[in-house]
Amino acid sequence: MILKRLTGRGGDDNARSQAPQLPPIDEIPEEYFHTVAKATDIGPGEMKYVEAGKKDEPIVLMNVDGEFYALTDTCTHEEASLSDGEIIGDEIECPLHGGAFEVRTGLPAAFPVVVAAKVYPVRVVGDDVQIAVLP
Ligand code: FES
Repeated sequence: MILKRLTGRGGDDNARSQAPQLPPIDEIPEEYFHTVAKATDIGPGEMKYVEAGKKDEPIVLMNVDGEFYALTDTCTHEEASLSDGEIIGDEIECPLHGGAFEVRTGLPAAFPVVVAAKVYPVRVVGDDVQIAVLP
């Protein structure tokens, strides 16, 4: 089976224009940040399922080359947990049908995913990884 890459490295200008616009991290009020993990517990190439926010939103927290990123854990194609998938380069591959998302933008990166995943702002304070859940 051949999976059609929708964006790939360097991206597709059309798809990239659909990327969600997040506020600058230093403009997000403190009350929206939640400590979800220790940075030293998630090495490069690793990920962790976490929950954050008033509604305990399911989130996959990823370390890609030392930078942390967070997307909604539930695949936008069907019901699957992305934290059971695999980080490949700067994409996360869904375990169910092999669709993929860009870790930085949540944009679809491989079919059958066609809807972007929600992106959460992430910061590291000391050894704490904090995710902002915006209203
Ligand atoms: S459920 Fe994720 S690609 Fe189908």
